[in-house]
Amino acid sequence: MFNDIDSIKNLFREEIEKADNLKYLQELKIKYLGKKGVITGKIKSLGTIPPNERREYGQQVNDAKKYIEEIIDVHEKALRTSELNKTLQTQRIDVTVPGHYTPAGHLHPTTQVLNEIIRVFTSLGFHVEQGPEVELDFYNFEALNMPKDHPARDMQDTFYISDDVVLRTHTSSVQVRVMENNSPPLRVIAPGKVYRCDADVTHIPMFHQLEGFMVDKHITMGDLKGVLQVFIHMVFGPATKLRLRPSFFPFTEPSAEIDISCVICKGSGCSVCKNTGWLEILGAGMINPRVFEMAGYDPEFYTGFAFGMGIERVAMLKYGIDDIRLFYENDKKFLEQF
Ligand code: PHE
Repeated sequence: MFNDIDSIKNLFREEIEKADNLKYLQELKIKYLGKKGVITGKIKSLGTIPPNERREYGQQVNDAKKYIEEIIDVHEKALRTSELNKTLQTQRIDVTVPGHYTPAGHLHPTTQVLNEIIRVFTSLGFHVEQGPEVELDFYNFEALNMPKDHPARDMQDTFYISDDVVLRTHTSSVQVRVMENNSPPLRVIAPGKVYRCDADVTHIPMFHQLEGFMVDKHITMGDLKGVLQVFIHMVFGPATKLRLRPSFFPFTEPSAEIDISCVICKGSGCSVCKNTGWLEILGAGMINPRVFEMAGYDPEFYTGFAFGMGIERVAMLKYGIDDIRLFYENDKKFLEQF
């Protein structure tokens, strides 16, 4: 037995007794086993030991090293477990505490209905075009067969910016814009905001419309009815009936008002449809040859249909809403229902 090694072990035993935390344990490990540690020093000094004792001495240094390593290891494991238990105690997570509720928004009902309608028409091969909301009188009125003194202009209460510039009163303003830049065949929808100086339960100064038109050789009113029938069945259900009622628009000839069977009473008569069984949903007709002339198309060659609908109106019919102003009052109780 070599005394120096024995006393190293004794000292180590005393010191490890005091090891009650990982930091101190780490220091001990370095002190005995580190690069400049006590044991490492002994290993390095092996060369100075007389050759006849060297083997025995080396053996004992190694045993001491193993001994220290093992004890440190056992202590380390014990300390780690107890420190983990301490953190688990102090930082306990109560998984039964209710979480923080983050309210998620969703698309406005007008946008939802508009997107649904756009999906229907794009699936039928129509593509989306847009025009400006601040529009020339020309595209909003004149090109649509409504010259300056035309009485039909009174059908729409117009916000004038100047004599020649208006806030567009309908999306029909996009018709001639598109025709000027494209040749038939055309299958176009034009959704967007429109403006009229008007306000009551069924009218607000800004609302949304979707225009649709198709131009080619041999387009007939039958095509108009077929396209609208698909649209109405997809949005209001396949049992919904549709009827065309004669009407007037300066830019279509003949013109029609399209009604659907009442979504509430299914046509038997109720307060929503005022006992008629029918609800008016959109205006339509065959594009007036005068409009084609304004756009530079030969009306002898091409025919087409056009229709225009109010998006809020479609949403009102779909969900049974009786006041259009609800859409833009920002009342969450109303909006959250959609
Ligand atoms: N622009 C008309 C309106 O706002 C609707 C319409 C569009 C009618 C296209 C016929 C053809 O009332």
